[in-house]
Amino acid sequence: MPHKDLLDIASLDRSEIDHLLDQSVPFKELFTRSVKKVPALKGKSVLMLFYEASTRTHSSFEVAAKRLSADVINFDVARSSITKGESVRETVETLQAMRTDFIIVRHSRSGLPGQIAKLTRASVINAGDGAHAHPTQALLDAFTIKEIFPDPAGKKVLIVGDILHSRVARSTSLILQKLGVEVAHLGPGSLVPRLCQDIRRFTDYTAAMAWAPDFVYLLRVQMERQDVQYFPSLREYHRLYGVTEARLAEIRDRGLYIMHPGPVNRGVELCDAVMDYERTLINDQVENGIAVRMAVLYWLKPGATHED
Ligand code: CP
Repeated sequence: MPHKDLLDIASLDRSEIDHLLDQSVPFKELFTRSVKKVPALKGKSVLMLFYEASTRTHSSFEVAAKRLSADVINFDVARSSITKGESVRETVETLQAMRTDFIIVRHSRSGLPGQIAKLTRASVINAGDGAHAHPTQALLDAFTIKEIFPDPAGKKVLIVGDILHSRVARSTSLILQKLGVEVAHLGPGSLVPRLCQDIRRFTDYTAAMAWAPDFVYLLRVQMERQDVQYFPSLREYHRLYGVTEARLAEIRDRGLYIMHPGPVNRGVELCDAVMDYERTLINDQVENGIAVRMAVLYWLKPGATHED
């Protein structure tokens, strides 16, 4: 059964995840055609409600919606009545009156997209809320891994860095576990909480690499969410956990893949040479983000119609 909203990965079962990933394949094939557009959502409207900055998620949702022939409304939070103190509830009720079909929400507050979903008959898609969830990032990560290993069960993904503040780590770990992938987390002890007992936890890079991962998934160090100092310095972080030139040589010898949700901090999570490594999948992740977001928009069923 299709859902009205996509708020997290926990609410998707295995068959729904498989369906969305399978449905993304023909959408990606569209990208090689001269006309990259289908009329699937003609007459529907998609409203982008981003309270936090975004490059990849925002632009790929916009491209995805346009390739499905939907109308896209970019709600400019900085120029809206939110700056005059209008609440989220009032904003959403105003948008509801405009009968938009989809609302894509990013907010620093965990759970806010879920609250909005209760206020509107539009389909709400969580584009990242606080440290809680980023479900379409997880779907695009799973899709990218499945392009290399169509049956990824038994493969190992090592997620490195600021797990504590990362909605990507939470959502991507969960989807990979649902697909039978083994997941481990590596980083400074202060940034690697024990999320669940099925996820191995490392604080030492050498020990983590001895676990023999197939993918090294680097996370951005989120300085903007860190109100206290979790490690001595960025230089120290790079030395202990970053993919340095020497570590890249080992990764290349072992044929491992590198992923990162972006934006990257060069010189912190990775050195410049990582971007030219042939098994770095960062640009594939960005391209795949459009295909999976098309699949999500196509699958969700807004609760209201314009005939209501
Ligand atoms: N991966 C990701 O969410 O990137 P943006 O913040 O640029 O959207």
